[in-house]
Amino acid sequence: MADALYTKLREVVRNAGQDHLLAHWETLAPTRQQHLADQIFAIDFPLLTELTRTPNASQMRRPPAAHPSPPPAVPIESAGVADAQRTRATGATALRSGQLGVILVAGGQGSRLGFDHPKGMFPIGPVSNRPLFQVLIDYLLAIRGRYQASIPLFLMTSPATHDETIDFLASHQRFGLPSEDLYVFCQGTMPVVDADSGRVLLDDRDSVCLSPDGHGGVLAALKREGCLAAAADRGIDHLFYAQVDNPLAQICDPWLIGCHLQADSEMTTQVIRKRDPQERVGNVVSIDEQLRIIEYSDLSPDEAGRRNPDGRLTLWAGNMGVHVFQRQFLERMVTSDEGLAFHRALKRTPFLGADGQRVTPPLPNSIKFERFIFDLLPAARNAIVVEGDPVSCFAPVKNADTAATDTPTTAKRLMLDLYATWLAAAGATIAEGTRVEINPRFALDAGELATRIPAGHVFAADSYLGPDQHL
Ligand code: UD1
Repeated sequence: MADALYTKLREVVRNAGQDHLLAHWETLAPTRQQHLADQIFAIDFPLLTELTRTPNASQMRRPPAAHPSPPPAVPIESAGVADAQRTRATGATALRSGQLGVILVAGGQGSRLGFDHPKGMFPIGPVSNRPLFQVLIDYLLAIRGRYQASIPLFLMTSPATHDETIDFLASHQRFGLPSEDLYVFCQGTMPVVDADSGRVLLDDRDSVCLSPDGHGGVLAALKREGCLAAAADRGIDHLFYAQVDNPLAQICDPWLIGCHLQADSEMTTQVIRKRDPQERVGNVVSIDEQLRIIEYSDLSPDEAGRRNPDGRLTLWAGNMGVHVFQRQFLERMVTSDEGLAFHRALKRTPFLGADGQRVTPPLPNSIKFERFIFDLLPAARNAIVVEGDPVSCFAPVKNADTAATDTPTTAKRLMLDLYATWLAAAGATIAEGTRVEINPRFALDAGELATRIPAGHVFAADSYLGPDQHL
């Protein structure tokens, strides 16, 4: 039996030019041999060969971004205008009638943040210290309450974050989200290959190096784990998508959903106006009248720095990682040829050398393959871009506090500044140097806050306005 397994495996790895994967076979106990065999059989070697040989396979179908222009975009909501009210009401009606679900991608580890746990566990509440997961679930609970709908959360983890995320959410009773409305599912992985030889790296004698297949892996994972079917069973036609690293994400914002519905858009993307050319956000652009997103690292400084006669950036639209999808569009894309190609990233990966010794390379030595969900944009019918106000919807948490931007400190500041604006509008006063944090379950927006704060209220000390607070 073991011989038959070995013979079959040897043929697979030989055909793929990856014989080294069995170099330690003889030294492994049967269970470990099986473990390695399962991993090898799961690898799509022809795909891997294609991805490794092509300079950038993702660019093959999508030629380099020549002459991108700014995308047409729905401008920031003009509150109080009749049209805007109708749009918001359209979104609200869809929410009330249970047509929406939420996808949150949380497969990334907090490595850039210097945090050795799933990023969603990072404490971000400026006063409350609530973790990112809780901040976002609180927002969802507030929306569910306002629209009286049991909007479910589809939360994507990766092998590195899955178990800890499950334990963390269970130990906090899912922060109040009913268990039947939470679907936690794990994204797929791709083998990591040596950058020079294209050989799959071994992580140990019985395992290959695997890395998450990018947030675009959400598409296959939603299908594989039955989430698209569950969404269909629940009568969900649209899925709001956000990243776990933005505590100000306005989950299921009725205005955004209203824009999406009125345009009959298969994929809607919320953007913010870039403040400077080098801001580390993807660029939402139009090429040959198709919407696309070009990562900041792929846009030349000249292109990024182009300005209009009025001095404003030409390519102004920054990707926030917030989208709304028609469920049926995702269903179609799971099997479509137009689906998601892989991007290659040169990364440093420790591995097991041919002599069985662990190697920790000082420089990037390997290629990782990732899919990006936003590559679906060109395939979406009636896709639209909607501009959001960065002050109220974007507080990225990417880097440790030693960095200049997108740190916990800058994100907390953005949160506090937003709440301070709402409080001022509600007629409250905050003493100098005092921080006030507002849970969306206390007030989702400035309008709701104004109904909950007594006129002239003074905050003399740091305060957290939680769900059960009364002033
Ligand atoms: C991302 C976008 C960028 C956008 C910015 C906004 C990409 C490639 N870039 O940058 O255009 O302007 O966010 O904040 O997306 N994730 C997974 N699984 C993975 C990889 C990532 O779930 O395999 C999740 C992370 O947990 C995170 C999100 O995807 O929530 C984005 O992470 P990351 O790939 O680090 O993108 P950024 O460089 O932050």
